[in-house]
Amino acid sequence: MNIIEARQLNIGYGEIPVLHGLDFGIPEGRITVILGKSGSGKTTLLKSLIGLLPPLAGEIRFCDTLLDFRSEKSLQDHYRRIGVLYQNAALLSSLNLFENIALPLRIHRTDLREKDIREQVEKRLAQVGLEQSGGKLPGELSGGMRKRAGLARALVQEPKIVFCDEPSAGLDPITSTQLDRLMIRLNRETGTTLAVVTHELRSVEAVADRVLVLHDGRVHFDGEFGELITQKDPFIESFFLRTT
Ligand SMILES: Nc1ncnc2c1ncn2[C@@H]1O[C@H](COP(=O)(O)OP(=O)(O)OP(=O)(O)O)[C@@H](O)[C@H]1O
Ligand SMILES: [Mg+2]
Repeated sequence: MNIIEARQLNIGYGEIPVLHGLDFGIPEGRITVILGKSGSGKTTLLKSLIGLLPPLAGEIRFCDTLLDFRSEKSLQDHYRRIGVLYQNAALLSSLNLFENIALPLRIHRTDLREKDIREQVEKRLAQVGLEQSGGKLPGELSGGMRKRAGLARALVQEPKIVFCDEPSAGLDPITSTQLDRLMIRLNRETGTTLAVVTHELRSVEAVADRVLVLHDGRVHFDGEFGELITQKDPFIESFFLRTT
């Protein structure tokens, strides 16, 4: 079963599409990596899938329901059911980690009592190994810790899917490997679907169950990671050679 279905999607800015005729599904409970050269449209695609950029044509279905960009209710429902780890983690610098992670609950779950919020946030902090750091400000953390905090915030509403844009950008190889392991563990333990944008081959190999390759404004490959590496395809071969 696909948690997300894209049909005949054109996405772009103004009238000019960056991506054309995209048809693909993101399977539930697995890790899908979105791969492509710089400027191929990975972030652009992510913006539409998370409900921030209306497609120029086509449709996005989430759990078999149309994401209607003209309906505030449809968008708000969508925002409640997804989590996003932004490229720079996008934590608010004036709030400590606890409050950063509590923020989505304070906005979207006004029915929760303070005690429930505390319980949820502490659970997420522990899940990413930051149980001792709730009182710290983002500026007092390392880059890897900030990413983990961003992941905790993405998870706090128990979303069905978490989107991650270049999670290892700016991290050293060891920290980036730790973050990959954390994403795999969360996926395996909680069954949360992950859609991860990256161009780091090491990361793709470590986390991908499925891979979607964007090239020339289209989906160039959509399949299992195992199939991708055996492709006799000049673009894919050159991509992998260049990035290793
Ligand atoms: N806000 C915008 N307005 C107009 N064009 C944009 C905007 N954002 C991105 N683009 C264009 O869309 C294309 C795809 O950009 P996008 O940021 O999606 O690429 P990417 O695959 O995420 O690249 P990278 O790996 O460098 O992050 C590029 O040609 C870019 O110039
Ligand atoms: Mg990008």
